[in-house]
Amino acid sequence: MFLTLAIVTLIFLYVYIKYRYDFWTNRGIPTAKPTFLFGNIAGVGRTRSIADSLKQVYDEFREKEDFVGIYFFTNPAMVIINPELAKLILVKDFQYFSDRGMYSNKISDPLSHNLLTMKIDDWKPKRMKITPTFSSGKIKLMFDIISGITDNLVDKFSKTSEANISETVALYSTDIISNIAFGIESNCLADPDSEIRKYGKKIFKMNIIRITRFFLTSQFPELAFSLGIKATNQEASGYFLKLFIDTVTYREENNIRRNDFLQILIDLKNSKEGQEIDLKELASESFAFFGGGFETTSSTITYCLYELSQNKDIQSQLREEVDEVFSNEGGLTYDTLTDMKYLNMVISETLRKYPVIPMSLRRCTENYKIPNTLLEIPKGTMVNIPALSYHHDPSYYPNPSAFDPERFTEENIKMRPAFTYLPFGEGQRICVGMRFAQMQVKIAIAKLISNFEFSTCEKTEIPMKYNLSSPFMTPKSDIFLSLKLLK
Ligand code: HEM
Repeated sequence: MFLTLAIVTLIFLYVYIKYRYDFWTNRGIPTAKPTFLFGNIAGVGRTRSIADSLKQVYDEFREKEDFVGIYFFTNPAMVIINPELAKLILVKDFQYFSDRGMYSNKISDPLSHNLLTMKIDDWKPKRMKITPTFSSGKIKLMFDIISGITDNLVDKFSKTSEANISETVALYSTDIISNIAFGIESNCLADPDSEIRKYGKKIFKMNIIRITRFFLTSQFPELAFSLGIKATNQEASGYFLKLFIDTVTYREENNIRRNDFLQILIDLKNSKEGQEIDLKELASESFAFFGGGFETTSSTITYCLYELSQNKDIQSQLREEVDEVFSNEGGLTYDTLTDMKYLNMVISETLRKYPVIPMSLRRCTENYKIPNTLLEIPKGTMVNIPALSYHHDPSYYPNPSAFDPERFTEENIKMRPAFTYLPFGEGQRICVGMRFAQMQVKIAIAKLISNFEFSTCEKTEIPMKYNLSSPFMTPKSDIFLSLKLLK
């Protein structure tokens, strides 16, 4: 009896899953062949990353189709191949794609509910309030804080001839973001075992429990919500919530003001139109800045140094530009930073080759008729704009694995179709911290290149291997380089 029931259930499941995999073909949409049960993400975490699996689909269809249907396990999703369609989705037809489809739980896990994860009704007013936080004027005020912490990094590197670049730059980035978003001087560069570094690491750490939670929240979000399933690492979010509340209370009680994001958030809370914002809501934004801003900038700086150490001519050309600015009266300032054209090209090329967030995600919130076709993207579909695939498409970037900043001269940028370069996403949900991140990466690279010559050493892994279980494009192992003090 039991055996019969088990066999009937298995047959039912088999037929049901096969039926699910007809979803796109039934709608006339070109489809990448799914693997039973895993859809198009079989092997993710073991032999490839999510971005690799999207790239494989992209490469197979890029010369034939504008979009392709795929499956995340058994859930239908879509990969956008034509960048013109990406532009419609990200910008013009935003009202159909305003949501990133990321899980959050405002009730049981308040820090998970932030700009990154919010749906349109919560996101729109919040984004309007937060955007001025990142205006050029406000960011300019943070220049001195970042510049000072970067001097600590230079100091740390000057004591060694070989360094674990990825770990040291991660400590530096933690010092910056905890200073700016949480208003504390974490001094991780001086004390690598500090608490904030420990909990910062936990935000991204994937283990079997988190992978299971990720599976449940992405495949059955409503059920996960009603079961109160939490998306963040609870130890980390508990720590950051307490840190935030303690710092705000201390500043308010002692009338302390500083030029940082935290101050802008506190002012928002105390302003008339900010009356409805409570401390947990504000803490969730600082948490999002930490989560969105720490790993991304730290990996970008690391990748840039990794490439410069293998491309000595580019490194020398960059040093010439930087040293000229440093030797001028006034030295490195917010304004001279924006004048350094070659630095900008080098960083743009780094983000082209290594887009740390390799895709922009959107969930379709209303059935969407695809222009110039009779086809429709059904409501609820997760749509992937695969930035990494565009960045490595040889028809946009010939010889894509070569590191070549010349791709980013004004003339060469104009030659490429729009929306084929998306390291910060695009449209209304473009990275809110973009200008801040660009400033931080530029300050770090300018000061480091002026002070050191970077080279590969025995421990440098070439080619780089990536962490396949992370949705971000992060290195699998630490990156070591040798460095020679120049001044
Ligand atoms: C090199 C560094 C960075 C890269 C490559 C990067 C990349 C991105 C990307 C690709 C997105 C998604 C855009 C989309 O869906 O179209 C995003 C969103 C976001 N990023 Fe960044 N980011 C960086 C640094 C930062 C920093 C420093 C902060 C904060 C201080 C930050 C905060 C955010 C937030 C809050 C969002 C969500 C925006 C929204 O939905 O309104 N990011 N970022």
